[in-house]
Formats: sequence, structure tokens, C-alpha cells
Amino acid sequence: MPLVNSKELFEKAYKEGYAIGAFNCNNMEIVQAITEAAKECNSPVILQVSAGARKYAKPVYLKKMVEAAVEDTGLPIVLHLDHGADFEICKDCIDGGFTSVMIDCSSKPFEENIAITKKVVEYAHAHKPYVTVEAELGTLAGIEDDVKVEHGAESYTNPDQVEEFVKRTGVDSLAIAIGTSHGAYKFRPEQCTRDPKTGVLLPPPLRFDILEEVSKRLPGFPIVLHGSSSVNQEYVKIINEHGGALKDAVGVPEDQLRQAARMAVCKINIDSDLRLAMTAGIREHFEAHPDHFDPRQYIGDGRAYVKQLVKHKITDVLGSNDKI
Ligand code: G3H
Ligand code: 13P
Ligand code: ZN
Repeated sequence: MPLVNSKELFEKAYKEGYAIGAFNCNNMEIVQAITEAAKECNSPVILQVSAGARKYAKPVYLKKMVEAAVEDTGLPIVLHLDHGADFEICKDCIDGGFTSVMIDCSSKPFEENIAITKKVVEYAHAHKPYVTVEAELGTLAGIEDDVKVEHGAESYTNPDQVEEFVKRTGVDSLAIAIGTSHGAYKFRPEQCTRDPKTGVLLPPPLRFDILEEVSKRLPGFPIVLHGSSSVNQEYVKIINEHGGALKDAVGVPEDQLRQAARMAVCKINIDSDLRLAMTAGIREHFEAHPDHFDPRQYIGDGRAYVKQLVKHKITDVLGSNDKI
């Protein structure tokens, strides 16, 4: 099966109340970990590439690795551009064989966001085969590529704007801001309560009222959640017990993501959790084997941790297992 776009995957996910995982890829081991996990779970998957990933690994390597994963697994895989900043990068990816792109003009004024998104949609939909387009309304806190939004400067999606945005742009899916944010430090300690037993921060709940209102205005339309790592504390603990120093790292609780996946959310973006799993595996390896210096040994352990994490996400959070 060749690479697919996200249209039919989202239609089925919406109807059946689950979400497809969109996992960020930066190297071969991450691509393998995600796709082997998806294969074992019989799940479709989205492999997404940020501008930072393109800079780190070069677009040609990423594309060929994803193609290798398609050949190796036979899965329906979407190759998606994450946070495309302008028309040119979207065009470059569409021309280069991506099957889906995100144009992210969420930090620009509404009319400018519409104009650029519409231009990308026209180009992507005219492409043969059809390339799907994701856009964003509202801004998340955190860091994505070179844009850093401070906590407090984020803004929730305004449900009054979504119908007009989708109608005027023709976009295929919409990322909304309901309280998730990028990175491993999603909430300031002051925004959270602290579990008195473990000392772990408990974050404020997502704004399900906004998600509900958006889905009422856009019946049947696929919604996307960015910044949806849960910062699983077992990995933070391993990292900190093996020389790391991640203080007050906190994410979105997995039960809330599961709830969102049962609603209109069809795509859930996860990157930081993969980074934490990879780091936990490698740190643990080095402490257990200080004499090792073959990268296949320690990166191999990191890859195994990422694979285990992705299987957990697919079956316990996204609900996309056995959906092929
Ligand atoms: O949204 C941000 C993703 O986690 C990508 O991060 O820009 O460091 O590759 P990156
Ligand atoms: P996390 O930082 O929560 O993993 O979010 C990733 C993301 O939204 C990529 O676009
Ligand atoms: Zn994102």
C-alpha cells in the first residue's frame, strides 16, 4: 500500500470514536519504533515531520525512511508536515511526496490565516493524488520550531470563528487550542495542584466545553489536538534516577485524551513523550553498561522504549488498535 492522505482515516476515526496518533519523526530508530508498534497493534498511523526534523535529518532521508516503513509494514501511513510556517514549505513538501500538510498561521491575524491557508488548500487539493491540509485556530503555549509562546500568552480557540474559517479555506481538519501545550513542561506549577503523596503536579483539565461547542458548529469535521504528550511520570522518574534533571515536567492526563478521542478529535500529536522514552532507555542503558560504546546498543534500548510507549498510546489512549 502506498502512503495515504488522512481523509478516509479521519472519516472512520470520527464515526468509530477513536483518534489516529501523529508521532514526530527525527531519525530511523523513531520511524521504526512507531511503525513496528503500529504494525503489532494493527493501527493506521501518521508520521509527522517538523521544520526542525527537516533541518536535522534532511527531507530526503526522512521521506525515504518513511517509504521504507510503508514497504516494511504494509500499513496505511500518512506522511505529514507538522507546523508548516508558510506556503513555500507546504508546497515543497507537497511536491516532494508528502500526503498531508499543516499550514500553521495561528499566530497571524484571522484574515491572514484564512488567506494563506486557502492558498495552501487550493494547491494541495489540485495535486494528484489529493493532499490533505490541516490548519490551526487559537494558539498553544510552548515551543514549536522557532516560535515560543509564553504561558499566559496562549489563547483558546473561539468557537464563533470555526465555521467561517473552515468554509472559507476548504481545509480538511482543524487544530484547536483547548489547554494543551507543546513540550514537557505544559503547565506552570501555579496552574496545578500537587499530589501530596508523590509530589507530582496535577494539571488543570482541558476545556472540553470548547471542544463540544466547536464540534456542534462543525458536525462530522475532524479536530486535531497538538501538544498532547502526557509526560508519563515513569519515564521522567527513570531519567531523573539516571542522571537527568527534569523538574516539574507535566503533561496532559491520558484519560482526558481518551475522552477527546471519543469526541470529534481524530488526530492527536505526540512528540515529547517519544523523546522522554528514548532518553529514559538510553540513560538507563549507560548506567547499567558504562563500558558500552556501540550506538546500536544504547539507541537500540531507546528504540525499544519508544516502541513500547507507542503501543501503549495506540491501545490505551488513542483507541486506534485493530482499525485496519
Ligand atoms: O510541535 C512541535 C514538535 O514537537 C516539533 O518539535 O520543532 O523541535 O522538531 P521540533
Ligand atoms: P508534545 O510536545 O505535547 O508532544 O506535542 C507535539 C506536537 O504538537 C507536534 O506538533
Ligand atoms: Zn504541534
